[in-house]
Amino acid sequence: MKSKKILAPSILTADFSNLAQQIRSVELGGSDWIHCDIMDGKFVPNLTFGPVVVSSIRKITKLPIDAHLMIKDPDSLIEKFVQAGADWITVHQEEVVHLDRTLNLIHSLGAKAGVAINPSTPVASLSEIIHLADMILVMSVNPGFGGQKFIEYSYRKIEQLDKLRKENSADFLIQVDGGVGAGNIKKLCDTGCDVFVVGNAIFGKDNITASAVELKNLIS
Ligand code: DX5
Ligand code: ZN
Repeated sequence: MKSKKILAPSILTADFSNLAQQIRSVELGGSDWIHCDIMDGKFVPNLTFGPVVVSSIRKITKLPIDAHLMIKDPDSLIEKFVQAGADWITVHQEEVVHLDRTLNLIHSLGAKAGVAINPSTPVASLSEIIHLADMILVMSVNPGFGGQKFIEYSYRKIEQLDKLRKENSADFLIQVDGGVGAGNIKKLCDTGCDVFVVGNAIFGKDNITASAVELKNLIS
């Protein structure tokens, strides 16, 4: 049975002076999740927002909130993001020494656990946690900014991940994040991705709702 494909707009490139209306626009476009890019200026060369913004978003949307923690020492803030209302917590494999313990911590708090890998990080580094993670995020840009160019070798990593999933009868979702748009989302879908993070190709467009509808149709 084909699994449901999920469109997760990233608010990184949204108009923060109008966030409620921007989120409403992607909801009207059939989006499934809201992707929150949490950046600390240390793990990545950019600084965004923390739990306080997630709790404001929680008040105005019923969509699952997908928190992508691009931060050093994520263990120290996981509980605050779950308390703020995040449904998914994704940590970077590169930044967590005790990943098994961290994923168990996320589950103990009642959230779904994701692991992200940067472009240069091999899929093989995840082999021991594929039955513990609910989602694996393949970064298809070097994290830190929206509007970057999709890194083409991400396709190979997604294929490897889909093969690893099938060979081990694992059921984690495959999420792709960075440079995703109308030109590559169908191919990403066919390569095995389940969750599509899109920032600029939605919030950078004149008609946010229509852009979400177009992308949702391409993955459905
Ligand atoms: C980059 C973020 C991505 C990014 C996606 O570090 O993790 O979520 O915002 O934005 P686009 O779709 O503009 O590449
Ligand atoms: Zn992200």
